[in-house]
Parts: sequence; structure tokens; C-alpha cells
Amino acid sequence: VTTEERDRRATRRSIGRQDWSSWPTYEASALGLPGRYWYPVMWSSQLRNKPVAVTLLGRPVVFFRDGGVPYALHDRCPHRGVPLSYGKQQFPGTLSCPYHGWTFDLATGVLRAVITDGPDSPLCGKVSVDTYPVAERLGMVWAFLGEGAGEVPSIDVAIPQELREHEFTMGGRIDVRRGGWRFAAENGFDEGHAKYLHRNALWRILKVMPTWTRTRVVAVDDGWITRVQDEVHWEAHFPGLGTFSGKRWWKRGGPKSQVLGASPSKAPSVDPVIAAMNVPGNQSIRVPGLLRIVHPRFIHYEWYVPSTEDEYIYVQLFVQFRVGMSALLAKLRYLLFVRWLFHGQFTGQDRWMVEAMHAPPERLYRPDISITRWRALCEASPKTGQAVIPPQTPAAGGPGLAEHF
Ligand code: FES
Ligand SMILES: [Fe+2]
Repeated sequence: VTTEERDRRATRRSIGRQDWSSWPTYEASALGLPGRYWYPVMWSSQLRNKPVAVTLLGRPVVFFRDGGVPYALHDRCPHRGVPLSYGKQQFPGTLSCPYHGWTFDLATGVLRAVITDGPDSPLCGKVSVDTYPVAERLGMVWAFLGEGAGEVPSIDVAIPQELREHEFTMGGRIDVRRGGWRFAAENGFDEGHAKYLHRNALWRILKVMPTWTRTRVVAVDDGWITRVQDEVHWEAHFPGLGTFSGKRWWKRGGPKSQVLGASPSKAPSVDPVIAAMNVPGNQSIRVPGLLRIVHPRFIHYEWYVPSTEDEYIYVQLFVQFRVGMSALLAKLRYLLFVRWLFHGQFTGQDRWMVEAMHAPPERLYRPDISITRWRALCEASPKTGQAVIPPQTPAAGGPGLAEHF
């Protein structure tokens, strides 16, 4: 091998990945992972006796509430292709297309009447539109969608264990954002960016962010993978350039308050529910696109629900395990403060990056172990919508970076 050839190969290697063919399932998942899953769609309070049109996993879906019960149907009239969401209800238990009055049963999607063809229309019962299972949890309407057949698992499989087992108060935001659900999920679990991109966010104004870390990704229970920090550096000297540090006199934190790689469950002042969760690290993700950030006194969740190839429904939830008066105060704190600083400006920085990002090609770096482990999890994603525990990483060789990267 000549020097030139070696250089050429080295140069080519350093360019990075030209595509995502290492993760073919993931690469093909612009409209969601294979299999069927429960996805949150909108706040329950947004769904009333008026059709709501939503694009989910690239398909048009109309939601409608009747007698207090939410329904979801494929949003296209089989007659001439008009959206059923343009229509209205003429008879209980049904929705009528605005064009010629074809009238579909909300629960089954079967054509029950054709208003402009009289009561003896021969098409009744012979035509139908697809319906989707719908449920309500966490103050939201959920739909079960995707490719495949078989039993519909309980909505419980989509609800994190700690939210199934404890009382809590919550606040949140739901928006449609651009950039695609995969970039949003990768950004959510991205190890490297928070310390730099968010270093001056108002939400972090009083808290120092580390400069750099060494990180592992481990599989935990309930389907999650979690980032564990083996080293946290609060400043770094870059030879020939200078020192970088996020430390400022007005910011709390830093080496004195941070035990290396500590879990939020082991913080000095921790909510008892969060202490009992005993998480090894505070940032976790699971299929089909749910991020969980555990802090000592609250948990932040975000869902990335595929809409079109370039859009996703971004659901942010802020949970505190409080009841009674304490819950009211927590809710107030959310509305006055957290909603604007964290679910507004802070995750607005993420929106900015997710919209601007364009990959592949990409040249990943060491902290991107978080991204490659997430893609590997998606690659092996169960097709049932069930939360499944991924295989534990091998203990042999210790927790070094090399085995994961
Ligand atoms: S297009 Fe719907 S009734 Fe004709
Ligand atoms: Fe972020």
C-alpha cells in the first residue's frame, strides 16, 4: 500500500458515514418504526364533538368525540376521496362526509347510510373506512397505529411504569415541529449537545453545565436505555487554544455538588418516588420515541410522534409526584415558570437544531455513542408495541467506551 493510497483511505474514513445502511430498519423509518405502537396525539380537552384532522405516520386520520368517547378513522371518504374531517355529525354514533352525505359508523367505520341515495341505498354495510384503536391517558388522546395485525396491547404498555404506579401532577405542551421524528429523537438522547447548546439557556442560568463527559449507554428495565456518565469535566484546557469552562460566579454546581456519574435517585434532596426508581443515569430513551429526563424532584418526558417525513408531533410533559396543596403549587410553578423557560426557550434551542440538521452524511464522534445505541435499539425494535427489555451489554472488558463505539 503506497502512502498516497493510505492517505486516501484515511481521508475517506474520516469523512464518516455516507448513509445509514448500518441500520436499514431505522433508515427506512422516516414515517415510524415497523410494527404498531400507541402514540399520543393531542390533549383530551382538544377533542370535542368536532372532527380533528391529524397526519400520523404519513396517513390522514380524523378524530372525533361522541358521547364522551374518542374515535379515530382513516380520513378519506371512499366515494370520491374527500376528507371526512370536513364533515359533521348528523346521527349519533356516526360521521357524515360533507360532499354527498355518506355516513360512517364511528366505532366500526362501516357505511351506515347514504343521505343522498335514500334509506334503501344498496351500498350500506358494503363499504367501510379503517378505524384505529383510541385510548385516553395522561390527559391525552392516544391512537394505536402502524403496519401489522394481531391483538391490540393495553395502552399501559406505552405508559412508563412510574406513571402507572404513582399519583402525580403534570403540565405540558404539544406542538408540531419540522425536522422529522428521527432527528428529534436523536437530539433528545444526544450526549454532547446539552452542555454546549444549552449552556446559556435561561432554564440553566443558575446552573453550571459540564464541559465534557465520558459516557456509556446501558440497558435498564421497562424498555429503556440510559446514558451513564463515567467522567464529568467542568473545564478543559485545549492545547494551543486555551481553557473552556461554563463556570461563572453566579452559577451553582460544579465539582463540589456533583458526584461523578451520580444518579438523580441518589441526589441529597430527592423525591421519594424518584429515589425508589434507582435509575443509573438521568437520560433515557425507548421505542417508539419516548425520552425521559429524571431530575431529583421532577421528570421531563418527550414523545416524538411521526407525522409526515419532515414533521413530528412533539409532546413535552413535566411530572412531579405531588398530591393535594403541594400539587397545586407544583402546577402553578409549571404554568408560571417551567412552561416558558424549559418547555419554551430551552427546548426551542433543540427545535432550532432539529430543523437545521441534515444527515447523513455524518461524521460521528465519541459522545454519539448515545445516537448509535439508540439506532441499534430501533433496529431491534419489537413489532408489537410492547416495551421489551433489550439485552444487557456484556460485562466483560469493563465499562470502557470502546465496546460501545
Ligand atoms: S365524496 Fe364523500 S360522500 Fe361523496
Ligand atoms: Fe437539548
